[in-house]
Amino acid sequence: MTRRSVILGAGAYLPKRVVTNNDLAAQMDTTDDWIIQRTGIRQRHVAAEGEFTSHLAVKASERALAAAGLKAADIDLIVLATTTPDETFPATATRVQALLGLTRGAAFDVQAVCAGFVFGLAVADNFIKVGQAETALVIGAETFTRLLDWNDRGTAVLFGDGAGAVVLKASYGDRGVLSTHLHSDGRGHDALYVDGGPSSTGRVGHVRMQGKEVFKHAVSKLAQVIQEALDANGMTADDIDWLVPHQANRRIIDGMADKYRLPREKVVVTVDRHANTSAASVPLALAEAMDDGRIKPGHLVVLEAIGGGLAWGAALVRM
Ligand code: COA
Repeated sequence: MTRRSVILGAGAYLPKRVVTNNDLAAQMDTTDDWIIQRTGIRQRHVAAEGEFTSHLAVKASERALAAAGLKAADIDLIVLATTTPDETFPATATRVQALLGLTRGAAFDVQAVCAGFVFGLAVADNFIKVGQAETALVIGAETFTRLLDWNDRGTAVLFGDGAGAVVLKASYGDRGVLSTHLHSDGRGHDALYVDGGPSSTGRVGHVRMQGKEVFKHAVSKLAQVIQEALDANGMTADDIDWLVPHQANRRIIDGMADKYRLPREKVVVTVDRHANTSAASVPLALAEAMDDGRIKPGHLVVLEAIGGGLAWGAALVRM
C-alpha cells in the first residue's frame, strides 16, 4: 500500500479590518471600477498594528486542528510558507510552534512567495511519504500589505493579509496528495520582486512588479503545470472536481478554467474578498470550500500557484 498524506482538515483566518476599493480610491489615483474590471478584487483584509504573520498563522492552525479533530501535540512537523516573516530570523514557524505549545518535531519556513503553500505542501508530503513525519501542519500566512508601496497604484490595490492551514496525516490508501509538481526560473526575477532585504539593502523594501509580464507567465506556466499534474496521474480535466487556484487575478483564474473547460461552479474563487494574499491564498480558498461543504471526501482537487522567482507549482489531491 502506498503511504500518502491525507488532508484531514483545513482552517482559515482573516484579519478583522476590511479595506474596500473605494477606501483605496480615497487615498490614491484609482477607482473601484478599474480594480474590479482588471482584477476582480472588491476588498482585502489588512492586519492590525501589532498583529504579525505568526498570529494569523496560529489562528488558522487552531481552526485546521479543530477541523481535523486533532490536538497541537499530535503535530511533529510545521512547514510555514511566508514572504513576510515576523523577523528576519528565526523562522516564523518556530514562533507558531511555541504559540501552539509544541516542543517536539521540526518547524521551518519555506519561501516561494505566492507559490509558497504548494511548495510547503510538497515538502511536508515528501517528509510524510518517506516516514520522517506522521502529522504535519502546512501553513500559508502573510502580512503582505507591509511590503506595499502605497504610492504605487499598480501594486498597492492587488494584495491583502491572511492565513490558511491544513493538517496532513500519514495514511495508506487511495486518498491523499497524489503528486506535487514544482518549478522555478530565476530569470523571471525582475518581473516581481522586493527591492530590499537583509543582505542587499538592509531595509525590508517594497514590492515591484511588471504586471503584464507576470500575467503572461502566469497564464502559460499554470496551464503547463496543471497538465503536468494530470499527465503524471493518467488523468484528464474531466476527472477534476475542484480547481483551487492561486487568487491573484480573476482573469487569470477564468483563463485556467476556460483552458481546462471547467465550469465556474468547479472553481473556488476568493480573490474578490481576499485579494492576493500570496502564500495564504490557496489554503484560504481550500479551507473555505472544505468548511462550507463544497469540497467533499473523495473529490479530486487541483491546487496551483505562481509567484515571484518566478516559482510555480501544482498539486493533485484526492480528498
Ligand atoms: N488604478 C487605475 N489605473 C491603474 C492602476 C490602478 N490601480 N494601476 C495601473 N493603472 C493604469 C496604468 O498606469 C496604465 O495607465 P496608462 O495606460 O495611462 O499608462 C493602465 O492602468 C494600464 O496599466 P497596465 O499595467 O497595462 O494594466 P493591465 O491591464 O496589465 O492590468 C494588472 C494591470 C496588474 C491588473 C495586471 O497586469 C495583472 O493582474 N498582472 C498580474 C499581476 C499578478 O497577478 N501579480 C501577482 C502574481 S503572484
